[in-house]
Amino acid sequence: MERERKGRSIVLLPSPLQGHIAPLLELADILFSHGFSIIITHTLFNSPNSTAYPHFTFAPFPDQLSESEASTSDPLHLTNLINIRCAPHLTRCLSLLLSDPSLDPIACLISDAALHFTRSVCDSLHLPRLVLRTGGASSFLVFSLFPLLRRRGYLPVQECRGEEAVAELPPLKVKDLPKIETKDPEAFYEFVCRMMDELKSSSGVIWNTYEELESSALGKLTLEFSIPIYPIGPFHKHVTSGSLSSGALMIPDESCIPWLDTKEPNSVVYVSFGSIVAVTKRELVEMAWGLADSKQPFLWVVRPGLVTGSPWLEALPDGFIESLGGRGHVVKWAPQGRVLSHPAVGAFWTHNGWNSTLESICEGVPMICMPCFADQKVNAKYASEVWKVGVQLGKEIERGEVEKGIKRIMVEDEGKAMRERALQLKEEASLCLKQGGSSRRSLDRLITHILSCNSNRQ
Ligand code: UDX
Repeated sequence: MERERKGRSIVLLPSPLQGHIAPLLELADILFSHGFSIIITHTLFNSPNSTAYPHFTFAPFPDQLSESEASTSDPLHLTNLINIRCAPHLTRCLSLLLSDPSLDPIACLISDAALHFTRSVCDSLHLPRLVLRTGGASSFLVFSLFPLLRRRGYLPVQECRGEEAVAELPPLKVKDLPKIETKDPEAFYEFVCRMMDELKSSSGVIWNTYEELESSALGKLTLEFSIPIYPIGPFHKHVTSGSLSSGALMIPDESCIPWLDTKEPNSVVYVSFGSIVAVTKRELVEMAWGLADSKQPFLWVVRPGLVTGSPWLEALPDGFIESLGGRGHVVKWAPQGRVLSHPAVGAFWTHNGWNSTLESICEGVPMICMPCFADQKVNAKYASEVWKVGVQLGKEIERGEVEKGIKRIMVEDEGKAMRERALQLKEEASLCLKQGGSSRRSLDRLITHILSCNSNRQ
């Protein structure tokens, strides 16, 4: 449905990582469908697919990343480089946009929370700035308490204290606190603190979550931040006039849909670890045997780059997939939205990136949780112990544990209870977007906020 145009543009800036680009483009589509003109400004590295969005204007700027720097193997290092190098390039790009008479006047910039350099750029141009946090609110609450957690000795995380409860953040234990493998571990702490400072100085934060799912964290964040917050998710479930889910950097292999069509309802385990996580060859083999021994059909995304030191499936025993007689299907990238909503899918073995976690909840699919880094550990803890829609696997990937985890969800009674609970969450996710629902009300507030923004060319 085409709404009345508002005669205002919004510029949006994604962090150039798959898990960040897709939700930002979904947000852009939501705002477009509410009458705003959309300009996407972006780094040249991991440029979004502009052909999928003919209704948007795209404004790239140079990122100064060398070929070796332009890699997602250390996302923190990559993000830090962008924060250090891109201010003059974004300033130039925004100045041109602000003075372009062919565009609707620009109301504000909405940038990914990770790109904290945007504060100084926007201040220098007198351009109002809102921030999009693509992760969940519960994990963000943990990030907001990093200085306190450090003072109380929980950070940096010490493996030997993993089972200790974090009294300030129930039900988290020390092992659930965000951690990241990076060249410089101290840089993670500094990055989080900087992100928090720059976010608090923005004029509002938008979240891809919904009130009913994360009310406790959202309530605490509202008290802590003196700026408005807008939980308007799940983004991908808004009905828009645009092309949701076109934010993929990789082309999905649709062959898995007819394969799923041949399977019984709730019988298939879908396995995917998102766009960044890597596993060793040994872990790939343990995963494969765990899946095989579970005797459940499985659809497995093995993205090129998933296995460290191996192009794709080379580490598996010869003829492994063939030996399963059609019970296993492997693709390099799946149309995840269509997969999770397919009736054959009964569980999602996930790394608990926020997008995957939310997508699973929205389709009522329980999870086998295997978090790896950053917010994923908090998301997994919430999925298993707060929302009770998942089981967590141990830290080491081991075939017996994998088989047991799959059976708990697919075969045993506790799995049935999780599926019922997941269906309740799905229902809530759908209701919050309807007229009068919590996310609809937040979106109305957000639109009013954006319309009240005054940039220097009105
Ligand atoms: C990253 C971080 O790892 C994560 O912790 C943070 O919450 C967001 O940024 P990523 O690891 O890629 O993201 O995971 P996730 O957030 O789950 O995003 C992956 C996206 O890719 C999802 O939207 C998913 O639908 C999509 N996807 C994944 C596919 O479309 N096909 C696939 O085969 C795999």
